Amino acid sequence: MRNQRRKIISVIGAGNVGEHVASLTLLKGLGDVRLFDIPRKEGDKIFEPVKGKALDLQQMLAALEVDAKVEGFTVSPDGSSGYEALAGSDIVVITAGFPRRPGMSREDLLDKNIQILKAIVPNIQKYAPNSIVIVVTNPVDTMTYAAYKLLGFPANRVMGMAGILDSARFRTFISYKLGISPKDIHAYVIGGHGDEMVPIISRSNVKGVPLKYLLSEEEIREIVERTKFGGGEIVALMGTSAYYAPAMAVVEMIESILLDAKRIHPCSVYVDKNEFYEVEDICVGIPVLLGKDGWERIFEVPLSREEREQWRKSVESVKRTIELAKRFL
Ligand code: LAC
Repeated sequence: MRNQRRKIISVIGAGNVGEHVASLTLLKGLGDVRLFDIPRKEGDKIFEPVKGKALDLQQMLAALEVDAKVEGFTVSPDGSSGYEALAGSDIVVITAGFPRRPGMSREDLLDKNIQILKAIVPNIQKYAPNSIVIVVTNPVDTMTYAAYKLLGFPANRVMGMAGILDSARFRTFISYKLGISPKDIHAYVIGGHGDEMVPIISRSNVKGVPLKYLLSEEEIREIVERTKFGGGEIVALMGTSAYYAPAMAVVEMIESILLDAKRIHPCSVYVDKNEFYEVEDICVGIPVLLGKDGWERIFEVPLSREEREQWRKSVESVKRTIELAKRFL
C-alpha cells in the first residue's frame, strides 16, 4: 500500500440516506468519509448535526477496528462556504434535497431540489473536478440530468442511483414468493425511477431458470406492481423516504467503482444518443458497466415486445420531467 492513499468518499447531505451511505461505506472499509450538511437552527440555538454524526461514526470505527477517518463539515445553504474539504474526493455522493412525504410524487420535489443542486455544483467543480458524482436526490433521473448539464463533467463520471434499489426490491419480493435467497435471484429493473419503471421479466431468472417457469402470470404481476410502488409503500408507512436499501445501493456503486469491479448495474446515466435503447439527450436507468472510470459502457439487454413498449413509456415520462427541469437550469 506504499504511496497509496485511502480513497475519499464525500457525501453531501447527511440526512437518513447520507448517514447510512457513510456508515456502510465505512463498515466495508472502502475509504475515508467526509460528510457535508447545513446547520440546524432551533430558536436562537444553532446545531451542527453533521459534525456530531461524523464523530459518532468515527467512534463506531474504534469498536469495529476499521481504519478510516470520518469528518463532518457544516456548509452554508447557499453554497458559498464550507465545501473546501471536497478537495481530493474520489467520489461525491449528492443526497441533499427534500425527501418525499406521503402523497407526493418524486417529481413534486423538482424545483426545490434543483435550487439546492445549483448551490452544490460550483463547489464540486471547484474542489473536486476529477471526482465521480453519484446523484441520489429525487426525482433522480432528472436530477442526474441537471447535475450532468450543470457540472460539465464527462458523462461517465456522473450517474444516478435507482436501478440497483428498484432491483433489490424486485428481488426481495420474488424471494418472498419463492422462499429462495435473493442472492440466487437475478432480476432487474431499468427505465425511470418512477411508477413506470420496467422490471425485465424476460431476462429475470433464479439460478438460470426463467421466472416464468417458477411463478404464474398473476404472481409476477403482483410482484411487478409492488416493485413499482416499493418506494411509495415505505413512504406511506414511515412518513418519509426509505434509506437503508437506497444507501446500500449507493454503496454497491461506490464499491464497484473504487474496486474497478466491472460489475453491471442499472444506473441512471446520460445518453446523448443510443439506437439500441432508442434514446437521445436523457438520463434514464440502463444497465452499465461500473469501474474505475465511472460507468464505462452501456450493456444492451434484449427486451421482449411488451418490455420495449413499457421502456418507451418510461423514457417518455422521464423526458417530460426533464423538459420541466430545463426551465430551472
Ligand atoms: C425510494 C426513493 C429513494 O425509492 O426514491 O425509496
